[in-house]
Amino acid sequence: MNRPLLIGPFAQLLPMTGLPLKGALKDEQLPIIERGGILVSEGKILKLGVFDELKSDDVDIHPIERAQVCLPGFVDSHTHICFGGTRARDYAYRNAGKTYLEIAKAGGGIWDTVTQTRKASQDELVEGIVSRSKKHLKNGVTTIEVKSGYGLSVDEELKMLRAIQHANAIINASLIPTCLAAHMKPKDWNKDKSYLDVIINELFPIIKAENLARRVDAFVEESAFSPEEIKPYFQKAKEMGFDITVHADQFTTGGSQVAVDFGAVSADHLEASTEKEIQLLAKSNTIATALPGASIGLGCAYTPARKILDAGGALSIASDHNPGSAPMGDLLTQASILGTFEKLSNTEVLAGITYRAAAALRLTDRGKLETGAQADFAIFPTDNYQEITYHQGQMKPSEVWKKGTPIH
Ligand code: NIG
Ligand code: FE
Repeated sequence: MNRPLLIGPFAQLLPMTGLPLKGALKDEQLPIIERGGILVSEGKILKLGVFDELKSDDVDIHPIERAQVCLPGFVDSHTHICFGGTRARDYAYRNAGKTYLEIAKAGGGIWDTVTQTRKASQDELVEGIVSRSKKHLKNGVTTIEVKSGYGLSVDEELKMLRAIQHANAIINASLIPTCLAAHMKPKDWNKDKSYLDVIINELFPIIKAENLARRVDAFVEESAFSPEEIKPYFQKAKEMGFDITVHADQFTTGGSQVAVDFGAVSADHLEASTEKEIQLLAKSNTIATALPGASIGLGCAYTPARKILDAGGALSIASDHNPGSAPMGDLLTQASILGTFEKLSNTEVLAGITYRAAAALRLTDRGKLETGAQADFAIFPTDNYQEITYHQGQMKPSEVWKKGTPIH
């Protein structure tokens, strides 16, 4: 066994531990270790505490020269970074005032990305995921959920999921794959069988056999699948042991009820959620995920994050990085901006991209710094953690560590 490595001293070490999963958080609650240090061995945290107390002859030291703040590596619990092509045309059309229907008629929308993704080879998709993941990693994001959903046939969904699996094996960030075969009804589907039946009977078993994903998602929306239509898909997914997550209440409500009914780990979007859905989610174990990148990309309302937290809900914040509604793909920028519009404390914003986001992926070994957790860190060049959200994503990490190794 290698000698343990002691990293520090940090002006402020934010372990993000000892905080509740649900409900509002005040900055006075945020645990801060001053002159903190982290002892790492074999990619995991052995111990953390005051640097000088962890120092001994038995450890090597990775010195932190300037004043720095150390946080858990960020977790982005909702992205679509496996895709081909671009939707810059949609963006221009939207900003010119064109409606969703007009854009779809002009060849835009999700189906446009399906067409472009189907044209890409699996290797080309891997390249795209790798380059986007590297950008996220530089920004401190060490775990990234990635959805399929631009294939919309058994073979094309498999191509996407295999590309995600391959990319995960060759990059430093961890990718968490999710099957989103129910992203919309494929426009070219003209078989006798129902699309969802084929997905359930043919795709799900292969995903299990090849261990391509342990999560299943659907877009529950008027333009995609109704709450009624999606039931057999989630029913089967649940029976097969998949975790459920839902694109819910983005433009119309209904999705969050489906999420709660199926015991989903998360309900994501929620821009259209009303008091009823907010209460429903707050009382459930389903984590509410805000996607401010989609609000910024579409010019729409933000998820009612303040109300969700005040009602006692758990709030994760994710980038939704995708070519259509959320092309920016900068989690810290978006989470900071959501904070300004929704009046979130720093602690609520940071919780939303660390331990609460990890919980939305049912990961218990990251999103917080404690003994046994993965040694994933984002280190910022400041002596005051408040500077991080204040700079709205423009203060970049000076170091990012994944499994006990510095990445850049
Ligand atoms: O999360 N809402 C549905 N799916 C994506 C958008 C995908 C796209 O437009 O390509 C989302 O915003
Ligand atoms: Fe999405």
